[in-house]
Amino acid sequence: MTADLATAPRPAAPASSAATVLEFAGVTKRFGGARRGTTPFTAVSQLSFDVRAGEFVSIVGPSGCGKSTVLNLVAGLDRPSEGAIRLSGAEVAGPNMQVGFMLQKDLLLPWRTILRNVEFGLEARPIGREERRQRALRELDRCRLADFANHYPFQLSGGMRQRAALARTLAIQPDVVLLDEPFSALDAQTKLLLQRSFAQTIHASGVTTLLITHDLAEATAMSDRILVMSERPGRIVEEIAVDLPYRDDPIARQGTPRAREIIAHLFQSLHLAEREA
Ligand SMILES: Nc1ncnc2c1ncn2[C@@H]1O[C@H](COP(=O)(O)OP(=O)(O)OP(=O)(O)O)[C@@H](O)[C@H]1O
Ligand SMILES: [Mg+2]
Repeated sequence: MTADLATAPRPAAPASSAATVLEFAGVTKRFGGARRGTTPFTAVSQLSFDVRAGEFVSIVGPSGCGKSTVLNLVAGLDRPSEGAIRLSGAEVAGPNMQVGFMLQKDLLLPWRTILRNVEFGLEARPIGREERRQRALRELDRCRLADFANHYPFQLSGGMRQRAALARTLAIQPDVVLLDEPFSALDAQTKLLLQRSFAQTIHASGVTTLLITHDLAEATAMSDRILVMSERPGRIVEEIAVDLPYRDDPIARQGTPRAREIIAHLFQSLHLAEREA
């Protein structure tokens, strides 16, 4: 596999000249303090980073350091206390339709078929019925679920449901896809296969992606770049460029010596050896 890597290099990351899609400029988020008796606390502090078009960036960090808060801010579900977030050049001022958000739980509607679930995200848009159907079918095909279009969520495995949720997320053609631990509820084997499936689909669609994960091997195997956050208040303490090919094949990537080096480095960086659960 290593020889294979050496002889068949594929681009590891989009050209650094690609346009910035997402930008955090000095973002701090505080919670609490508005009601009497509540003490304000800072969840994340002075976050500055950007994500370029087509890039896949992961954020790792200890539990409670503000990773999900970062995604909520991008989605406009929360507002920064300080600083600004720009998406495709415009400041994020509230919930918006340019963001595709996917969580650990698939949130598919149990009474709709998979096809109708994928169409659901498009129903709020000015898109005709026929185009809606075509787009949904195209995404299902890309996520290799075309044969299951008329099945209901309960008829699918956990991994297939997550793929359907990704199809729904991509169908809206978002400027950025936000993934909050999408594989953490799955068994180890399904997780590996799904990581590869997501990596291929995301690579093929070229969509800009921000992934939150606790899994250091996953971050290394799937991303172009990893941002490491500190304990609360979360700050970015390190940024690692994953200089490896095969972004569309995490299983191949994970086995390379360089990937193992990066994982070991992340392990150190997060002080995992010294920490207690
Ligand atoms: N809407 C909110 N109101 C008050 N506090 C909040 C709110 N959202 C998050 N917090 C707090 O902000 C901190 C960061 O939470 P967040 O969920 O972003 O962490 P996380 O890094 O995603 O954690 P985990 O790895 O466990 O998912 C936590 O202390 C959390 O309790
Ligand atoms: Mg979280």
